[in-house]
Amino acid sequence: MTNTIVVGCQFGDEGKGKVVDLLAPSYDAIVRYNGGNNAGHTIYRNGEKHIFHLIPSGVFHSNTVNVLGNGVVIDPLVFEEEIRALQKMGASLEGRLFVSDRAHVITPQHVEKDIKRAKGRLGTTGRGIGPTYAAKIARSEDAIRVADLFDSILKDPVLAHFCDVVRPFATDTSHLLNQMHADEKSLLFEGAQGTFLDVDHGTYPYVTSSNAVAGGACTGAGIGPTLIQRVLGVVKAYTTRVGKGPFATEFGGEQAAAYCDDYSHTAGYEQEHFEPAERLLRSQDQFLFGIGLRKKGDEYGATTKRPRRTGWLDLVMLRYACAVNGLTDLAITKLDVLGNIPKLQVCNVYELKNCSISLRFPAHHAALSALQPVYSTFPGWEGDISTARHYNDLPLEARTYLEAIEDSVKVPISIVSVGPRPEQTIIKRKI
Ligand code: IMP
Repeated sequence: MTNTIVVGCQFGDEGKGKVVDLLAPSYDAIVRYNGGNNAGHTIYRNGEKHIFHLIPSGVFHSNTVNVLGNGVVIDPLVFEEEIRALQKMGASLEGRLFVSDRAHVITPQHVEKDIKRAKGRLGTTGRGIGPTYAAKIARSEDAIRVADLFDSILKDPVLAHFCDVVRPFATDTSHLLNQMHADEKSLLFEGAQGTFLDVDHGTYPYVTSSNAVAGGACTGAGIGPTLIQRVLGVVKAYTTRVGKGPFATEFGGEQAAAYCDDYSHTAGYEQEHFEPAERLLRSQDQFLFGIGLRKKGDEYGATTKRPRRTGWLDLVMLRYACAVNGLTDLAITKLDVLGNIPKLQVCNVYELKNCSISLRFPAHHAALSALQPVYSTFPGWEGDISTARHYNDLPLEARTYLEAIEDSVKVPISIVSVGPRPEQTIIKRKI
């Protein structure tokens, strides 16, 4: 019996959905502890792509219980939509899906506030996440918990509808999880977003409003830290970011950030206006190279469809993520996307304005924007590695790249993902 937290080590979109889906059959409960429908978890099932924003990725595994913990903010309309979609697909949710009665509810007013006040300034998803957490912490009048919806004097028709939607699933999920643990069941906690979007540890203020880091699982699910045995950090073989905020290793720097801020630059637009990815990836122009990597890796936001900003892997960030999450294992995703690129780079340290070197991730976003990444260069590999199923099937150059990551962060790699489908996975070390 092992209880595990899966957490993103970058800016979200690391491929946590696939990893959770892979691990789910070995666990009895899959638990979300932070965020809301700002997340987008992509899962392939029978060759079809499914994106969930709120309901945990374990829902396809009929032996699992799926929980939205007290730290999650819930938009009942999105919850209703996802339940309908799942029922259409034949998933049985009876006794398998639970919502904490202590979770806060996103109302249309919270969404409106988010769109008016933060979407443009911070690049939020506009789903009402920030205003809902703000109301929770301020204990203001527009803070509504799931349990408040059961108040019999509720007159508001919107809240009455919310009540109808969530009531069948609402319970004391902390009690449920502690009871499951006492019954020797295994729990898997699924973090949304990533370490650098965490409200305390991320690139503040360009962050989300919850604790995405592993510690958030305790407060956001109502369990104690002594229940956890493993913390698996998911990291993409390169870096992406949606929305605004500093990104030291970004290809094309400010030009790319401004370009990605424009919602019209969708996958369709890039398909039409740019050369094929493989050709762009041979370009000396960093901006074009970044578009090539986005096209090849299909890096378009699962929630907002925005083009994701792209850059090299940043080991300063990863070492920070290992520390604040207390990682025991790493899962490296999308390694296949780096194939057929002659030279790969990885940022090892930062050079600061005064030419001193920093191994640490600075707190202030202005300091982050001013520093220069210092890179190590690795030879790339030729060919398609998406058919590799064992570590030794990987070309030497790919293994060298992975081992350099392990050497730098001192956390072992347990999983290597070489494609979106469940079978495109190498288990290097049993989780
Ligand atoms: P919010 O979470 O909607 O308040 O947005 C705050 C920041 O987090 C924005 O830059 C969003 O693009 C980013 N963000 C929120 N959720 C995700 C996610 O699941 N993946 C990637 N970025 C996200």
